[in-house]
Amino acid sequence: MAIDGSFGALVVSLSIIVGVAVFGIIAYLCTRIYNMPEDTFGKDINDFLDNMEREKPIRFTSKQLKTATENFSNVLGSGAFGTVYKGTFKNGLTVAVKVLYGTLNRRIEEQFMAEVSTMGRTHHLNLIRLYGFCFESTLRALVYEFMDNGSLDNYLFKTNEGDSIGFEKLHEIAMGTASGITYLHEECPQRIVHYDIKPGNILLDSKFCAKVADFGLAKLCNRENTHISMTGGRGTPGYAAPELWMPLPVTYKCDVYSFGMLLFEIIGRRRNMDVTLGDSQQWFPIWAWNKYEKKQLKDLMVACEIEENDQEVVDRMLKVALCCVQYRPETRPDMSIVVKMLEGTFEVPEPLNPFSHLFIGVSEPSDSLARMAWNGGGSDWTSSETIMSSKVVTGTPLMHKYEITIASV
Ligand SMILES: Nc1ncnc2c1ncn2[C@@H]1O[C@H](COP(=O)(O)OP(=O)(O)OP(=O)(O)O)[C@@H](O)[C@H]1O
Ligand SMILES: [Mg+2]
Repeated sequence: MAIDGSFGALVVSLSIIVGVAVFGIIAYLCTRIYNMPEDTFGKDINDFLDNMEREKPIRFTSKQLKTATENFSNVLGSGAFGTVYKGTFKNGLTVAVKVLYGTLNRRIEEQFMAEVSTMGRTHHLNLIRLYGFCFESTLRALVYEFMDNGSLDNYLFKTNEGDSIGFEKLHEIAMGTASGITYLHEECPQRIVHYDIKPGNILLDSKFCAKVADFGLAKLCNRENTHISMTGGRGTPGYAAPELWMPLPVTYKCDVYSFGMLLFEIIGRRRNMDVTLGDSQQWFPIWAWNKYEKKQLKDLMVACEIEENDQEVVDRMLKVALCCVQYRPETRPDMSIVVKMLEGTFEVPEPLNPFSHLFIGVSEPSDSLARMAWNGGGSDWTSSETIMSSKVVTGTPLMHKYEITIASV
C-alpha cells in the first residue's frame, strides 16, 4: 500500500512536471511565433537589406508609415506627384516616404502593384531603391531608400559656398546619372522611360554617388483607370524635349534631351534659365553654344568658375550636352554612348547647332528667343508645373503574381 501510495505520488509529481514543461514549451513557442515577424524585420538592418536584395517590394500599412514618419511630420520636399517625408523604422532604417496625390481608385490597385513590383525589382548602383509601398483607401505611398545628401539642385543652385561640389565630383555625378538612365533604357528587362530627368530627381548618397529618383512614376501616376496604356507624357519646363510639346512621336530619346539640359546646368552650376542675368546669358544653353561655335571655351570657364586643369573634361561635357539636346530625337545619342563620351572612351562628334530651329524666320531679341527655347520651342503655356501631352505610351504588362512581401514593422 505504502509502495502504491508513493508510486501514485510519483506519478502525480511527474505529471505536474511534464505538464508545466509542456505548458512552458508551448508558451515559449507562442511568444516566438508572435514575435517572429518583428524579429525577422527588426533583427538587423543587413538582414533586412538582404531580404530586399531578394527583390520583393514590401507592402506597408498606413499605420506602419504613420509611425515611421511620426505622423508625417518631417517634410523633405514636394513635387508633381506628392510630398516626401523622412521616416525611420524600429530597426533604425531611414526611409523617404512619398505620399502620392490624387484620389484613390480601387480598380487600379492591380496595375499599381504591377508597376511598383517592376520598380522594386529595378536595381542599379545609380538608381534609388524602392523598398515598398502602401495602397490603402486613405494612403497611397512609395517607400524609398533615404539619401543623406538630398538632391543635386541644392548643390548646383545654392549660393552658399559650403554647399558647392567640385567640378571633378560633378563630372562623376554626371557619369553616374548617365549610367542609371542607360540601365533604364538599355539594360533592364523592360525599357523604362523616365520623362522627368532634372537636378531635383538626382539624389546623392553619403558619398555623393548619384542616384536617379522617380523612374517609373510617370507611368504609375498618369494612368487612366485600368488601362495598361496611358495618356500623358510629362516633364518639367526647361528639361522636356520638344516632342513632348508637339505632335511628334515620343521615345526614350526625350530622356537624352533632358539629360543634356541637366548637363548644361552641371557645367554652369546655374539654372539654364536665369532672368536676372543680361540678355545674352539668360538662357545658358544658347550662350554656351555661341561660345562653343566661336571657340571661346575659356570665356565659358571663367564665367562658370571652372579651373584651367578641368578644360579637357568641360570641353567634352559641353559637346556631349550639345549632342544630347539636338532637336531631332534620332540625332541624339543613346545613353550608353553618352556614358562612354563622358568617360572619354568614345570620341564626341562635333555637334550641330541644336537651336537652329529657333532662329529660322525669327528676328527677335535674344531674351524672347531664350523664353521660346525654355518653353519648348514656341508653346504658349507659361506657368504650369508639368507638361501633359496625349501620346500613348505602352504600359507594363499586367503581372499575374505580384512579387510583394507584407511588412511587419
Ligand atoms: N529618397 C530620398 N531621400 C532624400 N530626400 C529625398 C528623397 N526623395 C525625395 N527627396 C527630397 O524631396 C524633394 C521632393 O521630391 P519630389 O520627387 O516630390 O519632387 P521633385 O523631385 O522636385 O519633383 P518631381 O515631382 O518632378 O519629381 C526632393 O527635391 C528631395 O530633396
Ligand atoms: Mg522627384
